[in-house]
Amino acid sequence: MKPVLPHAQLDWDDLGRPRSRVFDDVYFSDQSGLDETRYVFLEQNRLAERFAALPAHGRLVIGETGFGTGLNFLCAWQLFEQHAPAGARLHFVSVEKYPLSPADLQRALALWPSLKAQADQLLKHYVAIHQGFQRIVLDHGRVTLTLLIGDALEQLPQLDAQIDAWFLDGFAPAKNPEMWTAELFAELARLAAPGSTISTFTSTGWVRRLLNAAGFKMKRTPGIGHKWEILRGEFLGWPEGVAPPPPDKPWFARPAPVSGERHALVIGAGLAGCASAASLAARGWRVSLLERHDAVAQEASGNPQGVLYLKLSAHGTALSQLIVSGFGYTRRLLETLQRGTDWDDCGVLQLAFNHKEAERQAQLAAAFPEDLLQWLDQPQAQARAGVGLAHGGLFYPEGGWVHPPALCQAQASRDHVQLLKHHDVLQLRKVDDHWQAFDGDRLLASAPVVVLAGAAEIKRFAQSAELPLKRIRGQITRLAQTAQSQALATVVCAEGYVAPARLGEHTLGASFDFNSDDLTPTTAEHLGNLAMLEEISSDLVARLNLGEQPAEQLQGRAAFRCTSPDYLPIVGPLADREAFTQAYAALGRDARQVPDIPCPWFEGLYVNSGHGSRGLITAPLSGELLAAWLDNEPLPLPRSVAEACHPNRFALRRLIRGK
Ligand SMILES: Cc1cc2nc3c(=O)[nH]c(=O)nc-3n(C[C@H](O)[C@H](O)[C@H](O)COP(=O)(O)OP(=O)(O)OC[C@H]3O[C@@H](n4cnc5c(N)ncnc54)[C@H](O)[C@@H]3O)c2cc1C
Ligand SMILES: C[S@@+](CC[C@H](N)C(=O)[O-])C[C@H]1O[C@@H](n2cnc3c(N)ncnc32)[C@H](O)[C@@H]1O
Repeated sequence: MKPVLPHAQLDWDDLGRPRSRVFDDVYFSDQSGLDETRYVFLEQNRLAERFAALPAHGRLVIGETGFGTGLNFLCAWQLFEQHAPAGARLHFVSVEKYPLSPADLQRALALWPSLKAQADQLLKHYVAIHQGFQRIVLDHGRVTLTLLIGDALEQLPQLDAQIDAWFLDGFAPAKNPEMWTAELFAELARLAAPGSTISTFTSTGWVRRLLNAAGFKMKRTPGIGHKWEILRGEFLGWPEGVAPPPPDKPWFARPAPVSGERHALVIGAGLAGCASAASLAARGWRVSLLERHDAVAQEASGNPQGVLYLKLSAHGTALSQLIVSGFGYTRRLLETLQRGTDWDDCGVLQLAFNHKEAERQAQLAAAFPEDLLQWLDQPQAQARAGVGLAHGGLFYPEGGWVHPPALCQAQASRDHVQLLKHHDVLQLRKVDDHWQAFDGDRLLASAPVVVLAGAAEIKRFAQSAELPLKRIRGQITRLAQTAQSQALATVVCAEGYVAPARLGEHTLGASFDFNSDDLTPTTAEHLGNLAMLEEISSDLVARLNLGEQPAEQLQGRAAFRCTSPDYLPIVGPLADREAFTQAYAALGRDARQVPDIPCPWFEGLYVNSGHGSRGLITAPLSGELLAAWLDNEPLPLPRSVAEACHPNRFALRRLIRGK
C-alpha cells in the first residue's frame, strides 16, 4: 500500500488546460491565466514598483499558498527580471500538497510561450521534489524557490521567514476550504514582514472577514475577466485581543545581521566549505576560501566516488527530513555538472541483507512514495543491478554516485570566491568588528564573517573547541573495471557500497575505524572492504577477477569522517560557550524557563561541520542554511530541523541534563 504523496491528478480540456480531478477546479482562469495572474497577484501587491525600488543587495520574499503549475511564480520572476536592479534577489516560497509530476508540469507550462525562458529553467531543476522543504536555486542564485511539499497547515508552521507579499491561490474557497481557514491565516500573519501585502482572486465574504480578523486589512477591488471583485490588503499587525506568537527562544533566535562589508572567510575547502562559499557568493558576498592543501577536496571530500545514500527513517525524524531535503537539493545541483564523469544518476540499491534490515525497509516502503524509493524482490533487484544478488532491497531511482571533487570545484569556481591555497589557519582573533585568521604570527586574512568548515579540525580554535566532533577513519578501495564488471548498472549497498565504474574504476567503500589516526591505506582494511563486497554480490567479486591480484597491491585512499553525537551536522551561528552557560544557568533548575537574555553570540562566527558519512547529501544544503542564517532569509529547512542542527544544541542539553 502506498499512502503517500500522490502527484496531482489532472484532466486536460480541449485547449490543453489542466483541471484538478480531486478538487474539480481549474488551476488558472479559463479565459486568460496570464492576465489574471498579473492583475490579481503582481499588480495588487505593487510588485513592479517594489522590485524597482530594491537596493543593490536587497531582496523581496513572496509567499504563496498553492504552487500548482508555478504560473504565478514564473510571472513574478519575469517581472522581477524586468524591473529589479542587478544584484537584487527574489525569494519565492510556496506550499503545495499535490505537486504536479514533471511531465504534467511541462505540459501545463507549454501553454505560455512568453514564459519559456523561465519555465525551461524551472523544468530542468524540477527533479527529486519530495515531501517537506525543497529548495531550488535558479538563475545562478538570483532567484530562489523554496517549495514546501505537504499540507499547508503542516508545512507553514515550520517555516521561518519574513514574507513581503502573499499570494493566496488555493482552489476556490467552496471547493478547497482547508486553504482558507482562520488557522492558516494566523500562520500568514505570523510570517508577515512589516508592511507585508496580500492579494487573492476571491472576494468571498467569510474569507475577507477571516483575513481581517488575522490582522490583514482587506479591501475589495474590481476584478478581471469573469471575476467581479477580488481582494487585496496589507498586514497591520496583531489585532487587539489576539496574542502575538511568542518570540523565538533566544538561543535559537537569529543573530543581528552583520553590518559592514559583505566579506566572509570560509576556512576549509571540502564539501561543506565549498557549499558555504557558493551560497554566500550567490548572495553577493565576497568569499575568501582558505585551504591548507594546494587544491579543494583533498581530505574526506576527495574520494573518486561517493554515494547519494539515503538512510531514512519511517518516523519523520529531523535527520530523515534533512536527508530528503538535502538529497533533493544536491540532486538538483548535480544537473549542472557533467553526467558520467562528475556524477551519474544510475540509481542506488540498498540490499535487505538481513532480517532487521528487511523489516526496516518494509516500513520505509510503506512510508515513502515510489518516485523516491521502491521495494524490489530478489529477481527484480538483480535485473536492475545487472549482476547476481542474493537479496532484494530498496531501489532509489534518483540516487547515484558523485565525484565529490567535481562538486567542490564547481562551487569554489563561482564568481566572488577566491581560493587561498596553502593557508593553514591556526588561530582566530577578533579585532574591532573583524575576525583575523592567523598562521602563527602571520595574518592570513580578515573579514567581518568567518565560516568554520574544516570538519573536526575546527576544534583547534578556542571559540569552537567545545563542539563534540569526532573523527572516524574510513578507507575506500579502487577496483579496475573488467569487461564483466561493466554489467553493474546501479550503485549497490549492503554494509558497504560499490559503484558502477567512473573512468574505468569502481569505488568500493568504506571501512570504519574509530581509533586510528593514521591515514596510510592498509591491506587489512582493503580486505575488510572486499568482505563487504562479497556480502553485496559474490557474482561481482568473480566478475572483477579479484582472485588474481595479491591483496597488497590493492589501491585506495583513507580520510576522516567527522561526526557529532546525534549524527546531525552542526550548522549555524556560534555562541560563546562560557557566557552561554552563565546566561542560561536557570535552565539547569527548570528546563521550561526562557530567560529574556540575548544569546552571547560570537558576532560573525558560523559553523558548517559534522557531516559524517553523508556529506554529499547534507553539506550542500547546509551552505544554503548557513547563508540564510547570515542574510536573514527564509530557512531552507523546517525550523525544528534547523534547530536540531544548531551549534547551541549541545550547550543547551548540557545545561538541561547537567552533563
Ligand atoms: C572513506 C569515506 C567514504 C565516504 N563515503 C561517502 C559517501 O558514499 N557518501 C557521502 O555522502 N559521504 C561519504 N563520506 C562522507 C563525506 O566524504 C564527508 O561527509 C564530507 O566530505 C565532509 O566534508 P567537509 O567539507 O565537512 O570535510 P572535508 O572534506 O574533510 O574538508 C575539510 C577541509 O578543511 C580543511 N581544513 C581543516 N582545517 C583547516 C584549517 N585550520 N585551515 C585551512 N584548512 C583547513 C581541510 O584541509 C579539508 O580540505 C565518506 C567519507 C569517507 C572518509
Ligand atoms: C489554484 S491552484 C494554484 C495555482 C498556482 N498558483 C499556479 O500558479 O499554477 C491551487 C493549488 O493548491 C493546492 N492545494 C490544495 N489544498 C492544499 C493544501 N491543503 N495544502 C497545500 N496545497 C494545497 C492544490 O494542489 C493546487 O495546486
